[in-house]
Amino acid sequence: MARVFVTRRLPGSALDRLSAEHEVEVWPDQLPPGREELLARSRELEGLLSLLTDPVDAELMDAAPALRAISNYAVGTDNVDLDAASERGITVGNTPDVLTESTADLALALILGVSRRLVEGDAYVRRGDWRTWEPELLLGRDLHGATVGIVGQGRIGQAVGRRLEGFGCELLYTDLGVGVSLEELLDRSDFVTLHCPLTSDTRGLIDDEALRRMKPTAYLVNTARGPVVDGEALARALHAGEIAGAALDVTDPEPLPGGHPLLEAPGLLVLPHIASATHATRERMADMAVENLLAGLAGEPMPNQAN
Ligand code: GLV
Ligand code: GLV
Repeated sequence: MARVFVTRRLPGSALDRLSAEHEVEVWPDQLPPGREELLARSRELEGLLSLLTDPVDAELMDAAPALRAISNYAVGTDNVDLDAASERGITVGNTPDVLTESTADLALALILGVSRRLVEGDAYVRRGDWRTWEPELLLGRDLHGATVGIVGQGRIGQAVGRRLEGFGCELLYTDLGVGVSLEELLDRSDFVTLHCPLTSDTRGLIDDEALRRMKPTAYLVNTARGPVVDGEALARALHAGEIAGAALDVTDPEPLPGGHPLLEAPGLLVLPHIASATHATRERMADMAVENLLAGLAGEPMPNQAN
C-alpha cells in the first residue's frame, strides 16, 4: 500500500479502484490545495494524482523523497516539471487521446459561437431588446467555405481539421516546420485555431505582431493553453478592431481577474477551460489517470507516460 494524494475529487468510480489498493487521501475542496497543503503531505507521499491547476515542480519533488509516480489529470503537462521528475526517477503520466474528440467539438462550438455571435444573441433576447427580425441584426461571418488555420497538427488539431472538412473549409496547418509558415497561416486565415502544447517555443506565440498579421475580419480561437496568447496584446487588438473576435476556452491567468482588459474587449467569447468537460470524457480521463498511477506505483511503465 502506497500513500497517495489526489488533489481533487474526480467523476466516476476510478478513485475507488485506487483506494482499493492504496492509502488514498482525496482533497475535498473545490479550490486546489495550497502549496503548504501539498508540502505538508510531501514527506510521506509515494504517488500524486495532480490537476493542471497544481504546479508540480522540483521544490515539491525534493520535499517528497519517496515520490515515485505522478499522474496528471490532463493531456497537457506544462504544470509538471518533466525534466525534474525524470532526474529523480519519478514517472509522470497524462491523459491523451480520450479527450481529443471532445476538445475538437468545443473548438468548433467556439468557432461558430464567436463568428455567429451566439452569446451576444442570447443576451440580447434575454435583456428584452429584441423587437423584430432585422436585416442587419447581429451579422456575423460564415464558417462554410472559410480558410481555417490550425496551429498544431497533433491529435486535436487533426480532429478539428476533420470536422472542418465537413464545413467545406480550406485548411492550413503549421507545426514545427511542417505545413505552411505561421506568418502565411496568419495572413490567409479567416479563423486561426490553436492546438499546440504550451512550451518555451509556444509561450506568447500569438503576440502583437501575430495579431497585426491577421485579417481584420478574422477570429482567433484558443482551446490549447492561455499563455500561448499574449492576453494584453489580444485585448488591444480587439479594441483596435485589428481582428473581428476571439473565443477562448483558456486564458492567462485562469480565471481572469475582474477588471482584466480582455473582459472589456469587444468580440470576446470566453469559457472556463471546459473543452474536455463531458461526462464521458472526464470519466475516461479519471480511468486513465488511475491506470497510470497504479502502474507507476507498481514500478511498471505507465500506459500513457509523459517522461
Ligand atoms: C486540459 O486542458 C488538458 O490538458 O487535459
Ligand atoms: C430567415 O429566417 C429566412 O427565412 O430567410
